[in-house]
Amino acid sequence: MLCPTSGFRPVFRLKVTQIVYPGNRSFTFAPDLIFVYHTMNGSLWRLPVWKKDRRHGLEVMADCRPDEYSQLAPYYDFLLGPFILPVRGEICRLASSRQFESVLDICCGTGEQCLMLSSLGFEVTGVDLSPGMIEVAKRNARGRVRFFREDAASLHFVDSSFDCAVISFALHEKEEDTRGRILREALRVVRKPGVLIIADFITPRGFLPKMAGGFVHVVERGAGRQHYRNFRDFMKRGALQGILPTYDLKLYRMKKLLFRNVAVVLAGT
Ligand SMILES: C[S@@+](CC[C@H](N)C(=O)[O-])C[C@H]1O[C@@H](n2cnc3c(N)ncnc32)[C@H](O)[C@@H]1O
Repeated sequence: MLCPTSGFRPVFRLKVTQIVYPGNRSFTFAPDLIFVYHTMNGSLWRLPVWKKDRRHGLEVMADCRPDEYSQLAPYYDFLLGPFILPVRGEICRLASSRQFESVLDICCGTGEQCLMLSSLGFEVTGVDLSPGMIEVAKRNARGRVRFFREDAASLHFVDSSFDCAVISFALHEKEEDTRGRILREALRVVRKPGVLIIADFITPRGFLPKMAGGFVHVVERGAGRQHYRNFRDFMKRGALQGILPTYDLKLYRMKKLLFRNVAVVLAGT
């Protein structure tokens, strides 16, 4: 069977299983132009399919990137939650120290941070690209938080929609170009002067932090070749503290956690 749009002959069997629309937009389904892939082991990749109405001169596009987090999503909080908890607490503390009302959690994952912020009274919105993560987030939040499955490098929100944006443990796993686009989008959607709360890895200094840093490398290596390559590039550029000036971000406050391998920063333009 040939793909009707590209003529590409798929290696795997093609079958439509699920269609996820970005945001709350919906379009007429044109089955002849949508294709979904089978993995080698027989489990299905849930592929987001962007469909635009052809009557308006637009075309269907299928995002063929696999969901990197689909396998991890159900276990993410169980496996990593206890380690991340102090970071989540610090993010809440920083958000509470300002007069914020609305917060956007970019690359929100399973929405744990969103729920913590929401329970403090913030109006929280979460976005994440992974259908698996967003599914868990929506299930856990039971309507208390708005979630959108979309690319953080191209958000659908209009300028200045939020008081603050949070980005935790997402920048280190992105290529430099995507990292820059995510940060620029974050600054665009927050009210001026833009304020971001970012949690990510810093360069460990001293014996104990370096030992703990070895554990971080093991975890990052386990997350896949591209993920690890991006992480190493991020560290080479000076990690979180090193990249802030690249995007003209000033550091207002910083707290180092997890044996001084992670920092939660309040940064702004
Ligand atoms: C390590 S997890 C961190 C999740 C969460 N922020 C936390 O602190 O637990 C990274 C998240 O970034 C999401 N992500 C990666 N690239 C993205 C993109 N371009 N747009 C939106 N989300 C993205 C992944 O799906 C994943 O949920």
